[in-house]
Amino acid sequence: MTQAVLVTGGAGFLGSHLCDRLINDGHNILCLDNFFTGSKQNIEHLIGNPCFELLRHDVTFPLYVEIDQIYNLACPASPIHYQHDPVQTTKTSVHGAINMLGLAKRTKARIFQASTSEVYGDPEEHPQPESYWGKVNPIGPRSCYDEGKRCAETLFFDYHRQHDLDIKVVRIFNTYGPRMHPNDGRVVSNFIVQALRSEDITMYGNGQQTRSFCYVDDLIEGFVRMMGTEKGITGPINLGNPGEFTMLELAEKIIKLTGSKSKLIFHPLPPDDPKQRQPNISLAKNHLGWEPKVNLEDGLKETISYFKKLLNV
Ligand SMILES: NC(=O)c1ccc[n+]([C@@H]2O[C@H](COP(=O)([O-])OP(=O)(O)OC[C@H]3O[C@@H](n4cnc5c(N)ncnc54)[C@H](O)[C@@H]3O)[C@@H](O)[C@H]2O)c1
Repeated sequence: MTQAVLVTGGAGFLGSHLCDRLINDGHNILCLDNFFTGSKQNIEHLIGNPCFELLRHDVTFPLYVEIDQIYNLACPASPIHYQHDPVQTTKTSVHGAINMLGLAKRTKARIFQASTSEVYGDPEEHPQPESYWGKVNPIGPRSCYDEGKRCAETLFFDYHRQHDLDIKVVRIFNTYGPRMHPNDGRVVSNFIVQALRSEDITMYGNGQQTRSFCYVDDLIEGFVRMMGTEKGITGPINLGNPGEFTMLELAEKIIKLTGSKSKLIFHPLPPDDPKQRQPNISLAKNHLGWEPKVNLEDGLKETISYFKKLLNV
């Protein structure tokens, strides 16, 4: 059935892919963004589509629209961007959640929260199941994001318990793909851009720290499946790719796929940088029948070809 769907942060990396997918599925989309990190280029192909409407708005202010479903993605996601104005980052997560939950309460809309693996902090359990409460520094430079997202989860579950809201919370692990921001300091885009420009590749620490990387199409499939679950399924549910790679392995793959002559240079690890991050996705498998399908090499090829066009190289 066609739904009126609000996507906050809809002009961002993940939000724009979600808008594409929901339009393909036959829904009417209200894409909301303040364009802090998102861009009109990400959604320009949708402008003029009668099922797509774009609204410049900041989620820290209340919104009055009629809507069936809300995907709440608005929030800068990379350290460079979320540390630029940390107070605004916390406001976006916390006031944004309050405003969107208030809207869901009034309209009886189902509401989805894009939470993050950062709620686990620098984890002592590996891989991380949803039952793990995390190890997060409340006062460090990453806290505006990590604690903002944790508080947003708290609000979602309190609205669920107190007002019977139909909530869906997913914890997203590192995701990559076309439309990532070229200079947001995230490792995949950093390495690709440096490799394509034949610049030195910046490695933090000794490169042995690991991350898992999920291709964007896989993640969006997980979003849609989660939104389609019956009312009792609230999450939080981890969505990510359990395949684990060291930063050195990632850099080597990117150098090979781009045919770059770039060399690695090593810098100290930034504070609070987690050494390991890998999702346990058993819940997603059981409740959503979901697991990632795109392997790292295929996903990197798509991402590299996007950046080649963007950078004109
Ligand atoms: N990409 C990942 O690997 C990843 C991992 C974990 C969680 N997430 C979460 O997914 C969501 C989307 O992330 P992304 O990677 O697409 O990042 P992004 O920066 O590309 O997208 C965020 C979007 O939100 C918009 N925005 C920011 N503050 C806003 C505000 N106050 N009001 C309205 N719009 C605002 C930005 O302009 C941007 O379009 C975020 O909530 C992020 O925390 C992403």
